[in-house]
Amino acid sequence: MKVKVSRKAHFNAAHRLYRKDWSDEKNTAVFGKCNNPSFHGHNYELIVSVTGEIDKDTGFVIDMKVLKDIIRDEVEEAFDHKNLNMEVPEFSDLNPTAENIAVVIYNKIKPKIDSKLELEVMLFETPRNFVSYSGS
Ligand code: NI
Repeated sequence: MKVKVSRKAHFNAAHRLYRKDWSDEKNTAVFGKCNNPSFHGHNYELIVSVTGEIDKDTGFVIDMKVLKDIIRDEVEEAFDHKNLNMEVPEFSDLNPTAENIAVVIYNKIKPKIDSKLELEVMLFETPRNFVSYSGS
């Protein structure tokens, strides 16, 4: 019997979507307003879900205090109030789209939890636009 537990988190961050190897015209055509050279911000909402067996001793799939601390250390401390392109090393050469941010978050959290647990990262860039990644 597997149970999925989830925790919500939040961070504000700025980004710009562009490729250095493309012309200004092509960047604008593909990324539109998101290619603004002055950057722009989003209020990102994050839902981190962990699925696994309930531990017989604790009754937990994962201790939510532990998950909360992992999210704080790996995501909030690293991303909140940052310029993702300029201040977060993972995006120095990777476009900080919602898709890529979700994959980066997954890859940061996965090694911190028990390997028997499944992980899913859902990232809302706006209330209407969201992506999810679960490692495949
Ligand atoms: Ni944007």
